[in-house]
Amino acid sequence: MEFLNVLKGRRSIRAFSDQEVETEVLDEILKEALESPSSSNTQPYKLAIATGSTCKAIGEELLSKYHASNKIQKQPLPLKVLSAITSDALPDSDFKPILGKYPPLFQERRIATGAGLYKVLGIERHDKQARDEQMARNFTFFDAPVAIFLFVHPGMKHTALVDAGIFMQSLMLSATNKGLGTCAQGALGIWRSPIDKHFTVPKNYKLVCGLALGYPTESDVNDYKPNKINLTDLKIPAK
Ligand SMILES: Cc1cc2nc3c(=O)[nH]c(=O)nc-3n(C[C@H](O)[C@H](O)[C@H](O)COP(=O)(O)O)c2cc1C
Repeated sequence: MEFLNVLKGRRSIRAFSDQEVETEVLDEILKEALESPSSSNTQPYKLAIATGSTCKAIGEELLSKYHASNKIQKQPLPLKVLSAITSDALPDSDFKPILGKYPPLFQERRIATGAGLYKVLGIERHDKQARDEQMARNFTFFDAPVAIFLFVHPGMKHTALVDAGIFMQSLMLSATNKGLGTCAQGALGIWRSPIDKHFTVPKNYKLVCGLALGYPTESDVNDYKPNKINLTDLKIPAK
């Protein structure tokens, strides 16, 4: 594909078909992503790649944690505290999630993006149940046959996250170029125990986020293109 078509054609995919991703295709995408630059070429990332029954099992485990934690949220305060202590649904993420405490400007952009997405999905703003159900779909990777969990070595401090981000974008562009879809998912960084249960993650590696990968369906949700900021908002004015 033309570079611009790939760049503009990539968008977050939130409805996947059940078509499997061939191992050779997956490996090609990963090899292409490995062309990414990284700080001093350290490449401080590792992937846990879940397919088939492992993907399904991790999806079910994450979904059950999501439902359990939602239930806890709905309880009165004293019970909430007790359940949170005794339950295994408490987030065990390596990086603290932002969870609603976005700075106002970013909260505004987040809400606008979410509102656009819910509109395409036909979900009313105040329909909490439908929104919860859509959120829940994150944990089964929007039915994608491949879930990729991205880990970094914290010894490389913030550069590890820069490197991981660049790697992810390469991976997503490579997948787009081959007719596949992806969705980067911060939601997949909330609980890491289900991934530890199925993979031997090397010591010290921290879970950053996940990524769903597969073939997109024709669903309207996959055509959703949220606004991007303009150059004025991007550029810091000179003094
Ligand atoms: C680090 C990161 C985490 C994200 N987490 C989620 C997520 O948990 N669930 C989701 O549906 N989309 C998630 N997204 C996708 C963003 O919502 C999406 O990139 C943004 O709305 C812009 O849309 P586009 O990717 O189609 O350009 C994430 C994207 C990034 C880069």
